[in-house]
Amino acid sequence: MKLKAMHFPVIMLTALSMLVEAVVSDEPQQVLPGCNYTCGDIQIPYPFGIGNSTTLDHTTCYMDSKFEFELTCVNSTLIRGENIQVLNINPQGQMEMKFFVSHLCTDSSSNNTEKANKPFLGDPSFTISSTENKFITVGHDSYGYLNSYFNGATYSTGCLTRCYDCDPKMVLIGNNTGKCTGLGCCQVDIPPLMKNITLKTFRFPTSTLSQDQEDCSYSFIAKQGSYNFSVDHIHNLPNQSFPLVVNWAITSESCLIAKTTDSYACRENSECVDNDPDYEGYRCKCLEGFEGNPYLPGGCTDIDECAKNLHGCKNSANCINTAGNYTCFCPVGQTGDGTKEGGCKLPDRKTYIYVIIGTILFLVIVGIISFFVYQKRKYTKLKSKFFRKNGGSILEQKLLQRKDSSIIANVFKESELRKATKNYDENLVIGRGSFGKVFKGELEDNRIVAIKKSKTIDESQIEQFINEVDVVSQINHRNVVKLLGCCLETEVPLLVYEFVSNGTLSDFIHTNLENNPTWKIRLKIATEVAGALSYLHSAASIPIIHRDIKSANILLDEDNTAKVADFGASKLVPLDQSEIATMVKGTIGYLDPEYMLTSQLTEKSDVYSFGVVLVELLTGERPFSFGRPEERRNLATYFLSCFKKDNVFEIIEDGMLNEENKQEIKEVTDLAAKCLRLRGKERPSMKEVAMELETMILNVEGNQHYEDID
Ligand SMILES: *[C@@H]1O[C@H](CO)[C@@H](O)[C@H](O)[C@H]1NC(C)=O
Ligand SMILES: *[C@@H]1O[C@H](CO)[C@@H](O)[C@H](O)[C@H]1NC(C)=O
Ligand SMILES: *[C@@H]1O[C@H](CO)[C@@H](O)[C@H](O)[C@H]1NC(C)=O
Ligand SMILES: *[C@@H]1O[C@H](CO)[C@@H](O)[C@H](O)[C@H]1NC(C)=O
Ligand SMILES: *[C@@H]1O[C@H](CO)[C@@H](O)[C@H](O)[C@H]1NC(C)=O
Ligand SMILES: *[C@@H]1O[C@H](CO)[C@@H](O)[C@H](O)[C@H]1NC(C)=O
Ligand SMILES: *[C@@H]1O[C@H](CO)[C@@H](O)[C@H](O)[C@H]1NC(C)=O
Ligand SMILES: *[C@@H]1O[C@H](CO)[C@@H](O)[C@H](O)[C@H]1NC(C)=O
Ligand SMILES: *[C@@H]1O[C@H](CO)[C@@H](O)[C@H](O)[C@H]1NC(C)=O
Repeated sequence: MKLKAMHFPVIMLTALSMLVEAVVSDEPQQVLPGCNYTCGDIQIPYPFGIGNSTTLDHTTCYMDSKFEFELTCVNSTLIRGENIQVLNINPQGQMEMKFFVSHLCTDSSSNNTEKANKPFLGDPSFTISSTENKFITVGHDSYGYLNSYFNGATYSTGCLTRCYDCDPKMVLIGNNTGKCTGLGCCQVDIPPLMKNITLKTFRFPTSTLSQDQEDCSYSFIAKQGSYNFSVDHIHNLPNQSFPLVVNWAITSESCLIAKTTDSYACRENSECVDNDPDYEGYRCKCLEGFEGNPYLPGGCTDIDECAKNLHGCKNSANCINTAGNYTCFCPVGQTGDGTKEGGCKLPDRKTYIYVIIGTILFLVIVGIISFFVYQKRKYTKLKSKFFRKNGGSILEQKLLQRKDSSIIANVFKESELRKATKNYDENLVIGRGSFGKVFKGELEDNRIVAIKKSKTIDESQIEQFINEVDVVSQINHRNVVKLLGCCLETEVPLLVYEFVSNGTLSDFIHTNLENNPTWKIRLKIATEVAGALSYLHSAASIPIIHRDIKSANILLDEDNTAKVADFGASKLVPLDQSEIATMVKGTIGYLDPEYMLTSQLTEKSDVYSFGVVLVELLTGERPFSFGRPEERRNLATYFLSCFKKDNVFEIIEDGMLNEENKQEIKEVTDLAAKCLRLRGKERPSMKEVAMELETMILNVEGNQHYEDID
């Protein structure tokens, strides 16, 4: 934090100074800080600099590796070396300076002795530009040399102008004013890479000019176009010097070599250039997209093409400056590359259509989803409504009150049962009746169950239904189908029973025709059913009248153990009542005739029905069939008539009766007849029936011994 606080003002200052700089000069800096950029009107870009001035930190203002870039500024005149005036410095590598004329004059006062001066330009970094300059000689019978001492050798070039026996005025053949054609004035191109040069003017000794005439000859290098010949100049050239263009470079090394040296001059974002045949040495150049002075510390700086409007983008707003370049872009939602040619386009109609279609699809999907969410919520609401309607809370309360947690009627979730029955798949229906349907189902914990889906029940009977569920769920008898729980979330309650695998006793008697009827199993089944009914009537906490005992409601498991099922019509008998008035319910053939007449329901109705089941077991006949002759249509009636005539054995199912079981069968027919007595009071109780049958079973087991010996 402290560090940051300290840095803050510095950053502020830097930012401020940068801002000021940016405002003051848009041009990139060309000199070292603190150095004068101009002398008079002439700009002095680095690596040039004024020799006796220094920067703030006392280094020279010119590049000090060689001294060729040192200049002096006298009276606003820029001077190079002793006396050569600099006219212009081009940062790209050229410099214009005034270079002297070499002249040779006859002087009558000095006995016609001739003396030519030899102007000399000795800086090895400066080569005479071969393209910008001409070498010119002006005079009579004269010639000039341009000598270049270079690499230890001397190269010379020059031109001459001469006439024999001619009138000097004859040079004006034609009117050639301003043109250097070779008469009185000659000019030649300058070879490239001329360095370290001297000029000299000569005159032919056999000159026809009269000795007494004052006459001069001149040789000089002049920038093209800076000299116009005139006849007067043959005798008297008014100029002492002419502008000369030189190429300047850093040292005389190539880039390859220079890059390996410490004094390599090209700074950041610049490149080395040495491929121009007109100079020796190397120059530095800013990379494309950068500007500034490549020789200064810091090198070249990025050009903000966007701000300076140097970009090819449609608009400055579509331009992003990058290091060394820029990129064009289009605003979000438009297409194109943002350049002047490409431009930016609003999305076309097709795209609009896509967008609209997309939006519509989106809305539709959202609509569908919210519809389903709404339905789901409605459904959940409905479920809880049914739950309340079906007495769910009453049941829950009862379950909470119940102390014995080992016997628990589960309250199943609707979704659980729907999953177990594969959404109430018709293929899983294992039973149908007036009550509704029974589905086979598999719960999440792999338990196989029978799920009974009742038809609508009367709302007024809810509490009673709850009571029945409550009570039946408490019946824990091995010969009663166990109620595992119920579901109250549906409009009609669902009951979940244990699954009993081997079908009904009715199927066992009437459809299993292959085997001979086995008396032993039938007796066992009868005994078990009787035991269960006895339990229901007397041993259960509240007596229960099953009310619909029939072979179709007795299930058999894999061991042929009987399980009494379907308490759909069952009645709880309050303890202080022995009979209750109800709507007559039951199945034709099994129905207690007394109950039918009086509508007074007692447990003896179950006894009657059990009697019919016994007869069914004995005869293998259905309790009621229109297929039989009229007197035999009702099995119970027919049985009783036979019983009275003492020929019951005639109607015992074929193949069942034998010598061993004759006595037992006789006893069972007696028992059945007792159960079928018209007056309920005369019928035995289920307890008595059960005991009698159990005793018989014990005897059978005793007899087993004999059979084994056989
Ligand atoms: C620079 O040098 C010139 C002569 O070479 C002299 O006249 C001038 O005063 C000098 N300036 C400084 C600041 O030393
Ligand atoms: C820069 O030039 C100005 C006049 O043009 C002069 O007063 C000043 O001393 C010069 N500074 C340097 C460092 O040469
Ligand atoms: C500078 O110029 C002034 C007149 O402009 C002149 O008097 C002076 O002698 C000049 N100085 C030099 C060193 O040339
Ligand atoms: C000019 O030259 C002649 C001989 O060639 C000589 O006698 C004479 O003294 C010279 N005059 C001058 C002024 O040098
Ligand atoms: C330039 O020429 C002079 C003689 O006039 C010579 O002494 C010098 O070494 C030459 N310099 C180069 C770099 O050739
Ligand atoms: C040369 O021609 C120009 C026009 O082209 C003319 O003005 C000038 O007088 C002529 N000079 C001579 C010496 O004839
Ligand atoms: C030379 O003559 C041309 C026209 O012929 C003129 O434009 C130019 O300025 C002249 N140059 C000089 C140095 O007088
Ligand atoms: C040469 O001298 C004449 C007359 O003084 C002048 O008009 C002309 O500009 C000079 N040329 C150059 C290149 O300096
Ligand atoms: C700079 O960008 C333009 C357009 O984006 C591209 O045409 C050009 O080649 C780029 N220049 C460089 C040096 O990358």
